[in-house]
Amino acid sequence: MISKWDFLATLIMSNKFTTFCEIGVSKAATTLGIYALLDSYGYQLFCYYGIDPYKDTYYSIEPKQLGMLRARSNFKFLILNSDEAIKYINPPIDMVFIDGSHDLAQVRDDINNYSQIIRDGGIISGHDYNDSGVGWKSTVDFILKIEPNVVQDKRDENGKPNFMWWAYVYHIDGKIIYTKEKLNGN
Ligand SMILES: C[S@@+](CC[C@H](N)C(=O)[O-])C[C@H]1O[C@@H](n2cnc3c(N)ncnc32)[C@H](O)[C@@H]1O
Repeated sequence: MISKWDFLATLIMSNKFTTFCEIGVSKAATTLGIYALLDSYGYQLFCYYGIDPYKDTYYSIEPKQLGMLRARSNFKFLILNSDEAIKYINPPIDMVFIDGSHDLAQVRDDINNYSQIIRDGGIISGHDYNDSGVGWKSTVDFILKIEPNVVQDKRDENGKPNFMWWAYVYHIDGKIIYTKEKLNGN
């Protein structure tokens, strides 16, 4: 079991990624957690795209956390829904974490749209890989055509188990291919 930020920061650093995108920033718990971990290793991202339309006040960000994000020169805040925000991202990007709208059609669109701007050997990932509640497991498996890598989210250890998923992305002969392992070391 691992927290979202441990999971994401580990994948970023172990793959030497420099561009990262989080769909659904909310109160920035994960965003600031990732920054703290990267800082502790002296690891610097070139660009962190944070996306959230903030339409629902339940998820709104507090001024303190907002200020902490604004102080980061490599943080690009896109206060838009994911369909709109993608137009402001410079492709290709190394990694995307999907934790935005929990509507299954939007999850499908986020995977399909954002996979197109991930570089070969980059990673697509997300939260709520379950088939109960708002779970996305069937949707993710159907689109990826594989069962991705999974790890359990530590924050939910006392409630219903919740999982994060990730897979490598490749663009081959005009198609997007997802793999559990890197292809040929790339
Ligand atoms: C579960 S919260 C994100 C939690 C955050 N990633 C964390 O770990 O602390 C979901 C967020 O997705 C946002 N959201 C909803 N629809 C969205 C969309 N179409 N595009 C991007 N974000 C969206 C909501 O406003 C909310 O803040």
